[in-house]
Amino acid sequence: MEYPINNNDQSSQSGGFKKIRWGILGTGKIANKFASEFSHTASAELAAVASRDLERARSFASAHQIPKAYGSYEELLEQEDIDIVYIGLVNSAHYPVTRQALLAGKPVLCEKPFTLHAEQTQELIQLARQKDLFLMEGLWTRTFPVIDRVKEIVSSQKYGKTTLAQMDFGFIGNLDPKGRLMNPELGGGALYDVGIYPLTTARHFLGDITEFQAMATLSRTGVDTRVIIQAQHRSGALSVLHASIDTASRKEAYLFMERATIHIPCPFWKPPVALCAIHGGGIGSSPNTPVETQTISKPYSGNGFEFEIEHVSECIRSGLKESPKMTLAETLQTAQMIEKIRSNWKIVKNSI
Ligand SMILES: NC(=O)c1ccc[n+]([C@@H]2O[C@H](COP(=O)([O-])OP(=O)(O)OC[C@H]3O[C@@H](n4cnc5c(N)ncnc54)[C@H](OP(=O)(O)O)[C@@H]3O)[C@@H](O)[C@H]2O)c1
Repeated sequence: MEYPINNNDQSSQSGGFKKIRWGILGTGKIANKFASEFSHTASAELAAVASRDLERARSFASAHQIPKAYGSYEELLEQEDIDIVYIGLVNSAHYPVTRQALLAGKPVLCEKPFTLHAEQTQELIQLARQKDLFLMEGLWTRTFPVIDRVKEIVSSQKYGKTTLAQMDFGFIGNLDPKGRLMNPELGGGALYDVGIYPLTTARHFLGDITEFQAMATLSRTGVDTRVIIQAQHRSGALSVLHASIDTASRKEAYLFMERATIHIPCPFWKPPVALCAIHGGGIGSSPNTPVETQTISKPYSGNGFEFEIEHVSECIRSGLKESPKMTLAETLQTAQMIEKIRSNWKIVKNSI
């Protein structure tokens, strides 16, 4: 049921264009962070929120000054004045709710990992194309200006070829066996939750993965708590990637080129800065004793979701059906790669 929080249901204009009206499905941690960024954007407004529980939707709406709150996802999806929905639900809900949204005629930005099976990803992409609707996996890393600048440097080969990369994302999460990280029914596990960042970031800079070896520790609940991937990319570069939900690691990325090293410090998946150490590439040269250092700095004031919200709003305004920064072909390849890693990793037991 619709619940009007206030009377200022604005169809507001910004700089002569109509703001894109967003609906949010889910009221969890990331939905809260996403919602709080609308105050930093010029091209978008938050028009409605839906939860499985009306009281939760009301309280979320009140906290973020959202005009409408609904007690089911279906109700929000029926509203004609919503231009796009953001799906910030547990991983296992991504496929059914994205499908439901597309069938209701709504463009979708769905959190990572897009689905839990490559087949489901393929089906959703086909459905979006049939319905001529925008669809994007919410891998927000791709929308940060530092990532664009690093990609330009790597692609230009200004400092030679990139031959090696190291990236990690390990944190100590909520290890409640029923929680979203540890429960296989909710799509838990380190690879789905955070391993996707080093995996897709390495792929973004170094190209497709052609060979890999992986090892994972498995919890009693049956999810991976730690994973290590060693990969070869189409460019010939190698990468060493790791992720964890029970171990705090540095959460950094390094790209080693012939004549320089780029270090993206924590938080590499939402970077305000990257550091380039140019060492020249002579015998014995090292990023620890560079001849020159450069800083790539693109600070942001909020939590960083502003870039994704602005980018997607611009895609919708331009009539695009997919994002040039995070294509559907890449989302499908990521889902296929995750499936391949999960079925080929060497499993070692974990005590948790
Ligand atoms: N981009 C990022 O930086 C980032 C960071 C963290 C997480 N994420 C992604 O965001 C998603 C949500 O993570 P979160 O940390 O926000 O999780 P969370 O706090 O547990 O919230 C998940 C939401 O999912 C909804 N839900 C639907 N079916 C559910 C079920 N069967 N059991 C439990 N909840 C269910 C609930 O919404 P209602 O009850 O309100 O309907 C709940 O609020 C995940 O896909 C995760 O990968 C992204």
